[in-house]
Amino acid sequence: MSTIILGIESSCDETSAAVLQDGRVLSNIIAGQEVHRQYGGVVPELASRAHQQHIVPVVDSALQQAGIDKQQLSAVAFTRGPGLLGALIVGTSFAKALALGLDIPLIEVNHMQAHILAHFIEAPRPQFPFLCLTVSGGHTQLVLVRDYLQMEIIGQTQDDAAGEAFDKAAKLLGLPYPGGPLIDKLAAEGDPQRFAFARSSMPNYDYSFSGIKTSILYFLQKQKQKDDDFISRNLMDLAASIQYNIVAMLTEKLTKAANDLGIKEIALAGGVSANSGLRAAVQQLAEEHGWRTYFPALEYCTDNAAMIAMAGYYKYQKQEFCSLDVAPVARYAM
Ligand code: KG4
Ligand code: ZN
Repeated sequence: MSTIILGIESSCDETSAAVLQDGRVLSNIIAGQEVHRQYGGVVPELASRAHQQHIVPVVDSALQQAGIDKQQLSAVAFTRGPGLLGALIVGTSFAKALALGLDIPLIEVNHMQAHILAHFIEAPRPQFPFLCLTVSGGHTQLVLVRDYLQMEIIGQTQDDAAGEAFDKAAKLLGLPYPGGPLIDKLAAEGDPQRFAFARSSMPNYDYSFSGIKTSILYFLQKQKQKDDDFISRNLMDLAASIQYNIVAMLTEKLTKAANDLGIKEIALAGGVSANSGLRAAVQQLAEEHGWRTYFPALEYCTDNAAMIAMAGYYKYQKQEFCSLDVAPVARYAM
């Protein structure tokens, strides 16, 4: 008999549901939330309300597109955390009610583990042990992955996440939220060596992105005093230089960890892994160091329920179910 898992994701500003049959994605429906754009960032309460509106139609579409009736489901997997508590409560409550109603197991999933397990949705799949740099709007983690559910964070940001650094820098350039993809686009036409920004250095494999943000802010303030149109005149070079500096910080620690641990299987995960500068830099390093690199398809880099269902599938095989009194958590260690 096949194993059919429904995955539910509601940790931030994407309501998503996916159906997975024996590890194969049958559907992956993602509803974004435009409402936050005008505020320049995700507004938690508006996110919860939008999840509440989207959850039923999104789950219905996922089942319909998969051609699966809910009676056929083997289990329901949902994001327990980390994320926005009010947003997580929507997916958690829905998953519980469905598991209770259908009398099937409930599986709680760590969203950051799921980002990494997105690598197992499609080939090529990394070999254990591998290093995964998970870079999103909320997290920056360097993770040693020993097995599907055995992961250790060996380094992480002590302040802003990499995606946040991109978005905040973009905001300083007057770009709309989320600015990361716009910086990527503009950077393609600019000179990455034109401007240098002070990067903070952290011990071990940890990261800090607050220093570079301040450095960009002071630099722009000074230039604007001399030339009111400085940003618009130099937009592409600014974007390219900002991207170059953030990427250099990310790859420096990744290289150090790979060398120290003697690992050549290198993976990227999370929304920022869509960044073309980061992908190119990692590809270049791969040639120098003989790494094999793994980048998930864009659909599985940003928040999605297919990765939650995938994590649920591995937990299902180990019979790692949770009870109906489980509560979501804003912070969730691996
Ligand atoms: O993983 P994700 O979709 O959501 C979470 O934060 O969990 O990541 C979103 C982040 C945003 O900060 C966005 O600006 C950034 O990923 N991002 C990018 C690119 N695409 C998305 N940053 C730089 N270059 C991109 N191409
Ligand atoms: Zn995420």
